[in-house]
Amino acid sequence: MTLPSIATRFAAVIIVLSCSGTAFAGQGSTAPSGSALYVNYCGSCHGPQAKGDGPMASAMKITPADLTTIAKRNSGKFPSDTVFRLIDGRNPAKGHGGAMPVWGDTFLRAQGGASPDVVRARIEALVRYLETIQQR
Ligand code: HEC
Repeated sequence: MTLPSIATRFAAVIIVLSCSGTAFAGQGSTAPSGSALYVNYCGSCHGPQAKGDGPMASAMKITPADLTTIAKRNSGKFPSDTVFRLIDGRNPAKGHGGAMPVWGDTFLRAQGGASPDVVRARIEALVRYLETIQQR
């Protein structure tokens, strides 16, 4: 892969990330949709079906995880609390961190600032969404 093409991919993600902050403006206090959040914030790396094959994946040193096999890789149990912490990123679980954006901070800063409750609701919606797409 050539350097310009890597730069293009990163530029694309930066554009996606900076635009996505406005995607939920006007939603008020309605519960966030986990699948919509996923498409806006996660699909670029983890892929449209969460298989770890988003457009950014091949440009990354650490491969984005296949998010449909989290339960499989944890003896069939979906570890909601751990997944919450992994997405939040402000209190990283051992063995992770670095490659994943820190969504707890990102959501807090999005749209000119969100309350901690809104940040929590978004991450919880994402956790619930990921739970629904686990391979059994
Ligand atoms: C810039 C690319 C990128 C984006 C965007 C991204 N991730 Fe990740 N994610 C990664 C990488 C790379 C890893 C593997 C990190 C590691 O092993 O340290 C990862 C790991 C994870 C894991 C741990 C999976 C496991 O089985 O260990 C979860 C859960 C996760 N991401 C959820 C999300 C969610 C939810 C979003 C959207 C809010 C998101 N990611 C957005 C790159 C990304």
